[in-house]
Amino acid sequence: FGTSKINERGNLEIGGIDTEKLTEEFGTPLYVMDQKLIEDTIDIMKEAFVSERFNTQIAYAGKAFLTTGMVNLVNKKGLDLDVVSAGELYTAVKAGFPMERIHMHGNNKSDEELNMAIEYGIKEIVIDNEDEIEKIERICREKNKKQAVLLRIDPGIEAHTHEYIKTSGLTSKFGVSLFQENLFDIVKRLDDSEFIEFKGFHTHIGSQIFQSAFFIFALDEIFKYLSKLKEELGIAVETVNMGGGFGVYYAEGDQPPKLDELLKEVITYTEAMEIKYRIGFKNLYIEPGRSIVANAGTTLYTVGGIKETVGGKTYVFVDGGMADNIRPALYQAKYEAGIINKLKDEDRKEITLAGKFCESGDVLIGNAKLQNAEVGDIIAVPTTGAYCYSMSSNYNRFAKPALVFVKDGQAKLAVKRETLDDLVRNDIIFEL
Ligand code: LLP
Repeated sequence: FGTSKINERGNLEIGGIDTEKLTEEFGTPLYVMDQKLIEDTIDIMKEAFVSERFNTQIAYAGKAFLTTGMVNLVNKKGLDLDVVSAGELYTAVKAGFPMERIHMHGNNKSDEELNMAIEYGIKEIVIDNEDEIEKIERICREKNKKQAVLLRIDPGIEAHTHEYIKTSGLTSKFGVSLFQENLFDIVKRLDDSEFIEFKGFHTHIGSQIFQSAFFIFALDEIFKYLSKLKEELGIAVETVNMGGGFGVYYAEGDQPPKLDELLKEVITYTEAMEIKYRIGFKNLYIEPGRSIVANAGTTLYTVGGIKETVGGKTYVFVDGGMADNIRPALYQAKYEAGIINKLKDEDRKEITLAGKFCESGDVLIGNAKLQNAEVGDIIAVPTTGAYCYSMSSNYNRFAKPALVFVKDGQAKLAVKRETLDDLVRNDIIFEL
C-alpha cells in the first residue's frame, strides 16, 4: 500500500525508510503510519466528495486512530474532526484544532463531555437519544448558550458486516429509529427548543462495508423522511451526515469499494434526491475513520520463538499481539504478514502467528502463509492503522508500543513507547 516497497537491500521500506532501520531506532512492536498515504487518501476523498448543489464536508472519525499528531494532520488537510469522548476532544484541544470544526458523538455522553463540548462551542453534537436532549438543554441553560445538534437516526438498514460492528437494525444500540412512533415529537421538540439549534440528521449504518448500495438505501430512507417532515411539520432540515463505514482491504478475498467511485455515487444519488424532494437541504457530511488510516498503518514485530506442536501446528511467536491489535480476537479479523527482508521468497509455510499474551485466543493470524521464519526476524503486519492503536490495552501489564509517522525518508516519533514506570504511574501504594 502507499509508499511501501521492497528496497534495493531487499527490505520492506515505508515512507522512504527501511523498516529494519525503524526497528533499530524505535524497537518493536512498532506502529508505523505512512503519512503520505493518509494525505493522498484524504485528497482522493476530497476531490470526489463535491457537489454543485450543496456543501460537502468530510469529518475524520477519530475513534479509528487519534493522537495529537493525527489531529494536526487532519487540521492541515482541512477536514472536520469527529470525537466520541472527553479524551478525544481534549486531544483535539491540546493540538489546537479549531473547535468550530468538531462534531461529537456518543450514546451516553457524560455531563463532563457535554459541558466541555458546549463550553468550547463545537460545531455539532450528534444526539443519540431523548435523555440527551434534556441534558443538553440543562447545560445550555446554565451557560446561556445555544448548541447546534444533529439527531442520530437509525434507518434500519442491516449492512453485511460483522455483528459487532453493525450499528443499524431495529435493536441497535445507536440512535433513534426511523420507525419510532414519537419521532415527529422528538424532532418538534428539538426544533422548538430555545437552547438547541436543530440542524438535521445523522446516520451511520456500520463499519467495513463493501457495497455502496447500503449507503444508498440509508440515504433513500432519510430523504423520504425529510420530505415527510417538510410536508407534515413544515420543518426543513439542512444537514445530513451519512457517517462512515467504507470498507478497506485487509486480506485475500476482500473487495473493498473504490473510495472515489463510492463517494461520487453518493453525491450523484443525493443530488437526485435533492432535485426530487426540494427540501432545502444544504450540507452533506461523511465521517470516515478506517478508510482514511487503515491501510496507512503497519505493525512491526520481532519473532521470539517458533514452536512445532505435536498436533502438527506451527506457531511463530511475536513480541506483541492482542494488546496492540485486538481485532482478530474480537472480530475474527483477517490480516496478512510478511518477513521484512524475505518478502520476495516464494517458499512459504502455513503457520499460526501468535502473540505473547496469556490467552490461547491471542492469535494475530490463524493461517498465515509466511516465508521461512527464524528467531530475530522482523514481521510486518499491514493495514493496522485503524482500530489497533486506538483499541490497544495494557493487558498483562504490557507497555504500549511506540508509534511513528514516516514520510519522505523521515521518521517522526508520534507516541513514545510506554515505560514500566508508566504502567504503575496511577497505582497507589497503601498500607495493608
Ligand atoms: N461515525 C460513527 C457514528 C461511528 O460509530 C463510526 C464507527 C464511524 C463514524 C467511523 O466508521 P469507519 O469509517 O471507521 O468504519 N472497532 C471496530 C470498528 C468500530 C466502528 C465504530 N464506529 C473495528 O475494529 O472494526
